[in-house]
Order: sequence, then C-alpha cells, then structure tokens
Amino acid sequence: DNYTEEYRPQFHFSPPEKWMNDPNGLVYNDGVYHLFYQYYPEDIVWGPMHWGHAISKDLVYWEHKPIALYPDENGLIFSGSAVVDKNNTSGFAKEGETPLVAIFTYHDMEGEKAGRTDFQTQGIAFSLDNGDTWVKYKDNPVIGNNGIKDFRDPKVFWHEASENWILSLVAGDHAKFYSSKNLKEWKYLSDFGKTQGAHGGVWECPDLFPLKVEGSEEEKWVLIISINPGAPNGGSGTQYFIGEFDGKKFVSNQKEPKWLDYGTDNYAGVTYNNVPNDDRIFIGWMSNWDYARDTPTKKWRSAMTLPRKLSLRNIDEEYLLTNYPLKQVFELPGEVLVESLNVSNLATETINTNGLNQSQISFTTTSKDYRLTFKNNLDETLELVMDAKNNAFLLNRMESGKVNFQAEFGNKKHFMPITHLSQGEYEVKILLDWSSIEIFIDKGQYAMTEQIFSNEAYNQLIIENLDPEFSIKNVKIKRVESVW
Ligand code: FRU
Repeated sequence: DNYTEEYRPQFHFSPPEKWMNDPNGLVYNDGVYHLFYQYYPEDIVWGPMHWGHAISKDLVYWEHKPIALYPDENGLIFSGSAVVDKNNTSGFAKEGETPLVAIFTYHDMEGEKAGRTDFQTQGIAFSLDNGDTWVKYKDNPVIGNNGIKDFRDPKVFWHEASENWILSLVAGDHAKFYSSKNLKEWKYLSDFGKTQGAHGGVWECPDLFPLKVEGSEEEKWVLIISINPGAPNGGSGTQYFIGEFDGKKFVSNQKEPKWLDYGTDNYAGVTYNNVPNDDRIFIGWMSNWDYARDTPTKKWRSAMTLPRKLSLRNIDEEYLLTNYPLKQVFELPGEVLVESLNVSNLATETINTNGLNQSQISFTTTSKDYRLTFKNNLDETLELVMDAKNNAFLLNRMESGKVNFQAEFGNKKHFMPITHLSQGEYEVKILLDWSSIEIFIDKGQYAMTEQIFSNEAYNQLIIENLDPEFSIKNVKIKRVESVW
C-alpha cells in the first residue's frame, strides 16, 4: 500500500485520502468492528458530510470499505451511532435476518443558510449485509426539530432493564434522552447538564453507558460529552460525568467537569456497541477544531486515537474514568531498540536511535520528577515533564517541528493535573507515531493525546531523572511495524 506519505500514521487509522472527523457508528457485529467516520470525499477540509467506512477484526489492522452513507434531500450526514437490532424491533429485516441500524443527524445546509434554527434532525438507515450497503428509512427524519439550533449526534443503545432503545443527543448546552421500542418512534424522556460541567462551548457527541467499578460489583453510569471550545488546554476536548440512570433520567451530583484526556487532540470520541465481553472500547478523533483544517498533511487529514478500553476507578472516594490502549496495540510486532535501561536517581541518560517516530516506549517508576526530551538532527524538541511534586504533567510541543500553520497549535505549554498518582511504583507508556503522541500514566489514569509534525523523525531521547531518591526502571523502546 501507499501509506508512506510524510506524517502518515503507521499504527493508527487514517482515511486513504481527503478529510475525516468524528468516529461514527462504532458497532461490533459478526466478527467485525465497524468504524464509520465523518468524511468529505472531495477535499482535505471539512465539507458536505458522508459516512466513510472501514472494518477490522482487532481494531488495529483495518480494511477500507466504500462510503456507507451519502447526503440526500434531508441533508448532510452528521455524526451518530449504530446498533445491532437482534430482535428485529425495527422490522427492517425478514425472518432470520439481523439488521444493523444507523442513527445519525441530518444537517440541512439550505435551512442553515436561510437562517432557520430547525435544520438538524435525526434519521435512520439499515443494512442487511453487515454494513456493506445501507438503505435510508423512507419516513426520515425520525426525530424532528422545533427550533434548537444545535441538535445532533444521537448515540443509541439497548437498555435491558427497561426493554427500550435509549438515545442521547445534544442540544447546545445540554444532553437530551429519548426512548423507543422500534428505533422509529421516539419519546422524549429528560434533559441533563445545563448547570453542570464545562460550558465554554457547544456540547457534542454524547455517549451514555454503564460501567463496573474496578475490583467491585458496583456499577455506575458514565456520560461522555465533547465540548468545543472550552477544553482545559484550548479548543476541543472531552469531559465526562459519573452518575445513575434509571431508564428515564441521568442524575449526577458532579458540578465540576472531569476530563477524559488532557491533550489537545482527542475529540468527539465515543464507544462501541455490542462488544462481546462487555468491554467499553473508545475511539476519538485525533484533532482539534482550532486547527483541524490547517495541519500540514497533503493527501488526507487527521487520524483516530488508538482504540482504548475504558475503566472506572474509585480513588480516594472519587470515581475516575480511565482510558488505556487495548493489549493488541502493545503486542504489535516490532524491533526492540532498548531492552531494559535504568535511569538512577538524579541521573541523565541519552538514547540515540535511528528513528523513534513509530515506536512504543515504556517504563515503571516511583520518581515524581523527570523530564523526557525527544530530539532530532534539526534540534526540534518535544518535551514531557513529570512534576508530580507540584501536581502537574507538562507537554511542550512549541519547538516540536511545524507549529506555525495556525496560531493556537504551538503557542503554549499544555498541563495535566496529577492529583491521585499511585504512592508506589506506576507505569508510563508513550506511543509515538509520525504525527501524534499518546501518553498513558498509571494504566490510563492520566492520558494526553497530541498531534506533532516534526520536520524529521526524532532520533534521540534524553531522560533526566530529577528525583533525589527513586530511579526510572526498565525503559523499553520498541519500533513497531506498520499496520498498513
Ligand atoms: C463534532 C461535530 C459534530 C457534528 C460533526 C459534523 O466534531 O461538530 O457535532 O455532528 O462534527 O461533521
């Protein structure tokens, strides 16, 4: 294949060409994980939206499929979800067939241009061949609009307890919930969020699901909400709420936002429906609306985050949502560049390689004070600093390579609060691809995802351990083979 262009990710999903944004219709069915995505097949900037499509058996190696949904007389096809309608509640299938049903937002551009406020409605489509071909429902839209300007991104799941389909969508500054028996007729249930969480921008891409608390039988409900702008380090970001859902209403006593990722490039992420062992698998769009249209790639634009498993931890009486790459990501074949290096307290180690931009780096430590610097022959640097003593982790991409394509990209350092780090030894994983870095500390309790565009591959890693007491142990670096 030709996935060798400058900045082309080698172990992340990116479209063959042209513009991509949000992941859509994440659903597992009959041995395959579907990934649909916001797609404009004519240009590398946002335009009239389609659903692009790819499938995978393991969420690591992907096969591209033809475009699944095209705009029609009701509008463009904005973000949404997909379900496996096992009992054929929709009646779209004949005996013995199982329909896949996609639920998405129609965006009527003419209506928007005319200054109306009812231009976003919800529509559905079905597939009887496991996602290869789709037929839109003849009576679309299934949820109309009586004047809410931002009214979109339906996420549907089957709620066993109430034997209903439950749909979440966003309406500007809050989420709305609906229920249905057949995916066609929807009943409004309730609102959530007008006075809770972050409100620096419009709410987008909701996702409501139950999750067990690690190491217990306790179950909580999680509501993920993307917000743009208003993220902690600028532009687009993903917040979440922990609470209860009784089939009608989501209730959380949380006032302050919690953030799933403190990097600038993890947006519009949602989770898979129908995963076999009830794992909660999340994929986000690895970009930010501040500069998504300006990044320096030529043939295509943007990539998805690695697939991540979500977990809930109860730490010091607080529930935290963690996200951590699936184990098959770490098991990718590759060449070990560094087997096991120790960096003593107050020591510095410089690791020279012939290229780090397609690698996975890991270590364990009790140190709360260190700096990692990635460097290339042009002296471009990408800096990561753990300053747990001052409750912070810092990522500095200001001198990392191309940063001037847009004002917000390289204008400041990015911070992540470190407030509940394990007292003892914890793990750090860093996954560096040709235009991104993902950092997971303490098994995903702290995550940072950012794009980077170095003019040459980084070939040096400098590890400065500033902790007077503890060493950094077992530094491993593996260059992974391309999945393309
Ligand atoms: C999020 C978003 C969604 C919308 C889609 C349009 O990035 O703005 O709210 O459905 O992108 O492409």
